[in-house]
Amino acid sequence: MSQGGEVIIRFEEVSFGYGHNKPILDEVSFPIRRGGKLTLMGQNGAGKSTVFGLITGALHTENGKIHIGQGVTVAVSRQVIPRADLELTVREFFEKCFSKKVYDIDPKIDAVLEVVNLNAPHDRIVKSFSGGQQARLLLASALIQDPDVLLLDEPTNNLDKAGIAHLTDFLKKYQKTCIVISHDAGFLNSFTEGVLYLNIHTRKIEQFVGNYFDVVKQITAQIEKENMKNAQLAKEIQANKDKANFFAMKGGQMRMVAKRMREKVEEMEEAKVDVRKEDKTIRNFTIPAQPEVVGKILEITSFNMIKNHKPSKRKTNISLKKKEHLLLVGPNGIGKPTLLETIAKGKSTGAKIT
Ligand SMILES: Nc1ncnc2c1ncn2[C@@H]1O[C@H](COP(=O)(O)OP(=O)(O)O)[C@@H](O)[C@H]1O
Ligand SMILES: [Mg+2]
Repeated sequence: MSQGGEVIIRFEEVSFGYGHNKPILDEVSFPIRRGGKLTLMGQNGAGKSTVFGLITGALHTENGKIHIGQGVTVAVSRQVIPRADLELTVREFFEKCFSKKVYDIDPKIDAVLEVVNLNAPHDRIVKSFSGGQQARLLLASALIQDPDVLLLDEPTNNLDKAGIAHLTDFLKKYQKTCIVISHDAGFLNSFTEGVLYLNIHTRKIEQFVGNYFDVVKQITAQIEKENMKNAQLAKEIQANKDKANFFAMKGGQMRMVAKRMREKVEEMEEAKVDVRKEDKTIRNFTIPAQPEVVGKILEITSFNMIKNHKPSKRKTNISLKKKEHLLLVGPNGIGKPTLLETIAKGKSTGAKIT
């Protein structure tokens, strides 16, 4: 981390929650220095995106203060394009990033589109782009503001390999401060110099220095130590419980001893460390039970190929049985999800789910 850089954002005893039963931060204090390239890490639902909202001012602290240096500009690249923005043209979409009218915005748009590796006519409507291309537009909309602090929330979602490589390269060369939320460890490791770890149990943000893998190691070691301490405590607690029961059975005077032992057990229970769980970025989900399937599940007998804008029908013979896998590859924007949707909805003539 750029240890020398001046502090440009400082959290001072910041508390925040979505109402009383959804606390997120509890008196959190930490500085962010100019030029730092940071990962904001924490379990799913810990409140990482919320922290971004607090920094941009979209959300307000309950207690405490977030100090942002004078004139320091912040931009965030969100995960999805707001519904209302989908109807805009590319040019309007970028113009909306600025509070004042920007003259001669087209060359600026081209420059950031180049960074995210997207070819987009400026009068094309945003919603006509594929999911992956929209992800690039989002990213570019943060970059065009050339902010002092760049906040990226899951920027690699919907980017293909080439897109991620491009973004990695950009971040490595980026001279200003950036804070990134992502579950792609390799991507994070390639540019991270320090980690802000949002601890879901303590609701504090802990700062670590080092690349992403280093920090994960540090945190894992810390969790292991806590686990060991707890295992030892659990043993002692059980021994004390056994003793308490033994004295209680004796009755009379011994009941007092038993009571004291029980109090000690309670004390020890409290001393147990709130053990952190590993960082889970995938939510729990259930797959509904279905009857046993046998034989062919999917059969593709023909498909349409578009070459030089002309569709032509081709025959093929692809079939999938249970536990067989088929990898669908292709560049961004070619229509991979569209293909899956037409098959899933039974709209495809050449493919059949049996
Ligand atoms: N507007 C909201 N109202 C109530 N709860 C919310 C709201 N936004 C997020 N949450 C909840 O707050 C928690 C933190 O959310 P979020 O910051 O999106 O987490 P993360 O980005 O770390 O996955 C989650 O449990 C989420 O469901
Ligand atoms: Mg989030």
